[in-house]
Parts: sequence; structure tokens; C-alpha cells
Amino acid sequence: MRIVSIGGGPAGLYFSLLMKKSNPAYDVSVIERNRPDDTFGFGVVFSDATLEHVAAADRESHAEITSHFAHWDDIDVHYRGQVLTSTGHGFAGMSRQVLLDILQRRCAALGVKLEFQKDVTDLAEYADADLVLAADGVNSVVRARYAEHFAPRIDWRLNKFVWLGTTFPYPAFTFLFKESPHGLWRVHAYRYEASMSTFILETTEETWRRAGLDQADEDQTLAFCEGLFAEELQGHRLLKNRSLWRSFPTVRNERWRHRNVVLIGDAAHTAHFSIGSGTKLALEDAIALAQALQHHGEVAQALAAYEEERRPEVERLQRAAQVSLEWFEEAERYHGRLEPLQFAMSLLTRSLRVTHDNLKRRDPGFVDAIDRWFASSAARHSWITTRPDAPAPPPMFTPFRLREMVLDNRVVVSPMCQYSAEDGTPGDWHLVNLGSRAVGGAALVIAEMTDVSREGRISPGCTGMYKPEHVTAWKRIVDFVHGSSPARIALQLAHAGRKGSTRRLWDGMDEPLDDGNWPLISASALPYHPYSQVPKAMDRGDMDRVREEFVSAARMAEQAGFDMLELHMAHGYLLASFISPLTNVRTDGYGGSAERRARYPLEIFDAVRAVWPPDRPMSVKISAADWAEGGLDVGDAVGFARLLREHGCDIVTVSTGQTVPHQKPAYGRLYQTPFSDRIRGEAEIPTMTVGGIASYDDVNSILAAGRADLCVLARGHLYDPYWTRHAAYEQNWNLPWPPQYRSVMGFTPRLD
Ligand SMILES: Cc1cc2nc3c(=O)[nH]c(=O)nc-3n(C[C@H](O)[C@H](O)[C@H](O)COP(=O)(O)OP(=O)(O)OC[C@H]3O[C@@H](n4cnc5c(N)ncnc54)[C@H](O)[C@@H]3O)c2cc1C
Ligand SMILES: Cc1cc2nc3c(=O)[nH]c(=O)nc-3n(C[C@H](O)[C@H](O)[C@H](O)COP(=O)(O)O)c2cc1C
Repeated sequence: MRIVSIGGGPAGLYFSLLMKKSNPAYDVSVIERNRPDDTFGFGVVFSDATLEHVAAADRESHAEITSHFAHWDDIDVHYRGQVLTSTGHGFAGMSRQVLLDILQRRCAALGVKLEFQKDVTDLAEYADADLVLAADGVNSVVRARYAEHFAPRIDWRLNKFVWLGTTFPYPAFTFLFKESPHGLWRVHAYRYEASMSTFILETTEETWRRAGLDQADEDQTLAFCEGLFAEELQGHRLLKNRSLWRSFPTVRNERWRHRNVVLIGDAAHTAHFSIGSGTKLALEDAIALAQALQHHGEVAQALAAYEEERRPEVERLQRAAQVSLEWFEEAERYHGRLEPLQFAMSLLTRSLRVTHDNLKRRDPGFVDAIDRWFASSAARHSWITTRPDAPAPPPMFTPFRLREMVLDNRVVVSPMCQYSAEDGTPGDWHLVNLGSRAVGGAALVIAEMTDVSREGRISPGCTGMYKPEHVTAWKRIVDFVHGSSPARIALQLAHAGRKGSTRRLWDGMDEPLDDGNWPLISASALPYHPYSQVPKAMDRGDMDRVREEFVSAARMAEQAGFDMLELHMAHGYLLASFISPLTNVRTDGYGGSAERRARYPLEIFDAVRAVWPPDRPMSVKISAADWAEGGLDVGDAVGFARLLREHGCDIVTVSTGQTVPHQKPAYGRLYQTPFSDRIRGEAEIPTMTVGGIASYDDVNSILAAGRADLCVLARGHLYDPYWTRHAAYEQNWNLPWPPQYRSVMGFTPRLD
């Protein structure tokens, strides 16, 4: 077999040596445009996990690589004069040039042909090769040559960065944040040799321009950076090496193979340097491709198997890298606003791979400090005292106050329609459903979307608050919750708008009723599905009537004894239909700009707030993005959340989507939490995050990092009404049982 690697970086060299090792009869060559000892870049990092793969694939190079390692366990975060250290992270750094030297030597020893200083511009020369490896890095010419087959997508990121070196021997992986009159600077630094460190400086394009660096050559860049970090560098120098300011390109390819040509390493995909995984991915690609060829023998099959194996892993890492790079792009949001420990926690948990729980295993002292800080700040906000000698509660078991309502913990049962009411009246199902979840330990139970009129219902089975029987029926539930648990209970008030007059969930969600339909109203006369009923665009008379229905429902909710009201302005229902430009095409004072589209929902908020008791809080649930072209995005949601805060809203529940049926949401673990994080930071209003929260570890991580104030679980609570109790048990936290169940306290459950 004849194999040609275009590019002699880590991917090309490592793959070549593995192939030659597997069969010395193979004819393997590496074509590299640089000289063997050209050093571009300073150090690279590996996690301990990567090294296990490398050890198994080729013991010889692994032994040499590890003998050159600078190993460290700590991450230091320099923040406003403090250094916060978290330990137990297990990384190693080494010089990129030393790595290349080792791989080149190993290639040569095994008989791989290495051809340097040859810039490949035409692939015709390699037409007779059985396999052509596109290992030519981020600006791959091979990828460009076959662009129509690989279909590359390159996402140029917003920040500017420059890769420098320094003789300062950083003792830990170091994230350094520094403010100057130009703006905020981020440094990613780590030692890779006894007296050499990588020093990557990153900032926003605005700060970079303000500092005049758009005009700077390498030497001017160096002089500027040495001046900026003179104090931190303690007399050490910064070093340049093709140190040009760049934007980071996230490279993705629709396909990684075309006939006998295959993409590998940075040519196939990049992952932002803040998660330090580029070289790891390059080496892991090489291992997977070599193994696939050994296993399948036939090139086409092997390339398919390689892509199938590597793509999910690469995409997983790219998702983590995306969240991480966004954190750095948006660091201004956290810097100065978060207290030092929370800032460090937000940074460490940014890509969701490090969590409260695994950080606790790595560094119990750090997490204990976070938990103590969190508990003391919770105590401050809720005027509740915690004893300094008592163990710090996990963040989820700290109290939270909204007006006079104090919640015992941070877990909330999300409102979930049960489609089981008779003309709006909740019955035994609702009592047991909500009652058991209150007994299950959540601090706040939000009753399902409850409609302010018969015409405002989604389906014939939806609950309502529009006739006296409703008050009686709801009061029975509220009294049970108050009498049998410490939980508080809220009611979610809504009008279904154009999504009304549809079937129960299990008969077809958002599908029109076969018969018994009622007329619909909405912001504009646009049906939900093309085949759905066309709603009437509300006129001022309709608007006044619906406003009074909300007011009347709020008064009834007070009579029923609810502790809090949530107004449902999400998921495409009536009030949401005003907010989104996809559903509001009005030309009067309630359509057009974001401010005008917000007007009617805010009018409802104000009218309800005026009659709702001042000591009781109100929340609003919003869709922070429509996940559809031309629809709302998180920037719009920040603006709306600011208006809500100005109008006296106490907390925003941050959901997304369900505005239009052609939405394309990116579901996943905690998929809506970044929206909450941004709204909480930028609109400066407390938030509840909901969506894809499945573990108590998620809850603790979200809270400790300041991404939300409360965590709301919907399906988690359908699955397990006692979710909070079980979370308490797992965390060894004493959550008192009701007296009727006291005997369970000596019982050890086994669920395996
Ligand atoms: C600022 C920054 C910091 C980084 N920090 C880290 C880190 O800490 N840890 C980490 O693991 N990774 C890091 N990376 C990423 C890492 O450098 C790459 O992901 C990794 O080197 C990819 O290996 P590769 O072999 O695919 O590509 P490369 O290392 O880019 O190798 C490609 C090779 O192909 C050669 N080549 C290109 N075109 C041609 C041509 N036409 N003809 C012949 N030869 C050609 C190039 O000269 C080069 O030697 C960082 C990247 C950047 C930009
Ligand atoms: C059966 C069911 C009914 C729902 N009904 C409502 C509702 O009445 N009001 C509401 O705001 N959201 C409703 N939702 C959405 C949830 O409250 C929540 O926002 C969503 O399920 C994401 O959370 P999860 O990932 O924890 O399930 C419902 C979800 C489910 C599964």
C-alpha cells in the first residue's frame, strides 16, 4: 500500500508511523513544507486520558513524549488581584517542536520517508497513492481542492488572539484576566518546559482596536503585551514566533473522505485552544484511522469506519469547545459582576464537562469554599442565618427569597399540562399530581398552564381560572400543599391564543380538534400550522377583555391562596404571539419594533401586578429564542427581560421555542441554561432555568456558577415526584420527611 501524508504535523507524522509500524512493507511518505526544525507555536497540552491512548498505540513514542512532560494538577485563575487555585486536573504540557522531533525520529526509525520543504500545491503527483492523507492543518489545501466533496464550513470567531511564549515558568494552567483602559484581556498560559511557557493573549476585537493592535507588527505587539503584563511577568520576557493576531476558525466538514483522500486533524476539525484539545484530536484521529485500516484492509471501508467512529467524539468535543470559546468571548459579562469564587466556578464549569460533583472529587477544598460562599450569600439574600460551624449545604439546598416568599431549596417543579380537567376545574388527578411533588421535596411547585377563559384553553382538558368552582378546586390543592409540605405553590396563568382549540397531548399536540372547536384570537391572523384554524387578530376591545380576564384570574388565584403567579409569555401562546416577530405582523402600536411588540404583554403584567398582593412575587416565562430564521434571539430576550425587571417582575423563567412549527432547536443537556446565564448577567434579573436538567449535579453546578437562581425540572419530576428527596439522599443531606413517613429514615433503598 502506498500512503502519502500531505503535512507533517502531529496528525500526519503519528498516523504515518503507526501505519509503517503495522506493516513495514507499506510505502509511507510525509510531505511537509517546513524545515524539520521550524518551530511554529510553543507548547501543547494533553490531558492524562489522551496519553493512555497514545501509550497503547505506540509505547516507544509514548515513553519519549512523557519523558519531556511538564506535568501539573492545578488551574490558577487570576482575578482582580486574587489567585484562585483549583487542583486535581491532571494535565501535561510539552514543546510542540519536541513533540514533532520525537515523531519525526520515530518515523525515520521505522522507515517512513520524510520530505521537507516541499509545499504541495498539486495533488496530481500523488495520483497513484492508495491513500492520501489531508494532514495539512487548519488551512488545508487538500480540503480546498475537494471543497465540493468535503463541504467545509468555517466559523470565524469574534475574538482576536495571539500566540506568544514566555520564560516565566507558570506553576499551573493559568487563566489571567486583566483590565486596562482599552478593555478586558484574557491570558491562557501554561508551562511546557522547565523555563518556558505558552502565553496566549485573547481579547475582543473592540479592545484590540482600541489598543491600536490592528496596526501593530510583531515587535509592537510584543512591546505592548510586555508593558501590559509587566507586573505579572516579574521581569520575564515574552517571546514571539510568527506571533500575528488571528481570529480562531472553527472548522467543520460535512464529509471527511472523498475516494482515497481523507481529512485528519485540524484539516477535518478544530476545537478552540481554550480546551487545549487540538493535538489530542489529531493524535486520536491518527490512532482511529490506523486501526480502521488494519481492521478492514480495504481503504473505502476503513475510511467509512474511521469517520463513523471519530465524528461523534469530535462533534462532542466541538460542542464543548463552542461553549468554552463563547465564555471567553463574553467574559466581560462575568468579569467584575461575579465574586471571585463564583467567577472561577463559572470558568471551570463553562463547557459542562467539569461539574460541581467531579470538581468535588478532584478538589474537595475548593468546592467546600464555593459551597460556603454560596450558602452565606444565600443567607444574606434571604435574611436567614447559617451556622458557621455547620457543614455547608450543597447549593441546591440553600434558601432563596422572592419578596416575602422564602423557598427552602432551589428545585422547582415545572408547570406541566395534564389535560385532565373538566371545563377548567382541576380534580383528584391534579391534587395527587401536585401534592405528591410538593411532598417530594421541591421547594416550589408551579401548577400547569391555567387559562384565564374557556376560549383561552389549549384543549378541552386544560385547567382554568375563570369561574367560582375553579377557586374552590384550586384552594383544595393549595391547602394540601401548604398543610402537608414546606413547599410553596405558584399558578401559571395563560391564554393559548392561536395554539388553542387543539387536542390533548396524547391525541396529537397542537393538532386542531376534530369537532367542538372554538374561535381563536392572536396578535395577528396567522395560523399555527397551515391547516390550523386562522385566529382573529385582536382589536382593542379583545385586548381590554383579555386583560380583565387576567386580572380576574389573578384575584381568584389570591383567593385560592397561591404564593406566586407566573405569567406564561412563552411557547407561542397568546402573550408570546405579541413578542415574536414571526407571529406578530401588526402595523398598529402593538407591532413593529421590539418595544411595541412588548407593549401588550407588559400591559397585562402591570394590570395583574396591580391586583396581586405586593408581598407575593411574580414570574414570567419567556421563550428566549424562536430557533427559526427571522425570529427572536437571546439578544431580544435580554431586552425584554430588562423591561420585565423595570415593570417589577421578580424572576424570569427562561425557556425557548415552540413559537413556530418549523423551529430547529438544539436540544441537549441543559440546552436552555446558556440563555438563562446571559439574561441573568445582562438584564440583571434573577432567573429560573429549565430544560434538560437531569441530575442534582447539574443543579449544583448551575447555581454555584451563577447561571440561574432556581432550577426547574419538568420531565424529571414526571419520572420521579420525589426527585429532590432522592437528590438529598444521594448527597447525604437531611431533608425532613413528613411525620407520616418518618419510619423511612432508617431505610436504605436499593434501586440497582
Ligand atoms: C493559538 C493556538 C493554541 C493552541 N494550543 C494548543 C494546545 O495547547 N494544545 C493542543 O493540543 N493543541 C493546541 N492547538 C492546536 C494544535 O496546534 C493543532 O490542533 C494541531 O497541531 C493539529 O495537528 P495537525 O497535524 O492536524 O495540523 P498542524 O499541526 O497544523 O500540521 C499541519 C502541517 O501541514 C503542513 N502543511 C500545510 N499545508 C501544507 C502544504 N500545502 N504542503 C505541505 N505541508 C503543508 C504545515 O506546515 C504543518 O506542519 C493550538 C492552536 C492554536 C492556533
Ligand atoms: C407533559 C408536559 C406538559 C407541559 N406543560 C407546560 C405548561 O403547562 N406550561 C409551561 O410553561 N411549560 C409546559 N411544559 C414545558 C415544561 O415546563 C418545560 O419547560 C420543558 O419540558 C423543558 O423541561 P424538561 O427538560 O425538564 O422537561 C410541559 C412539558 C411537558 C413534558
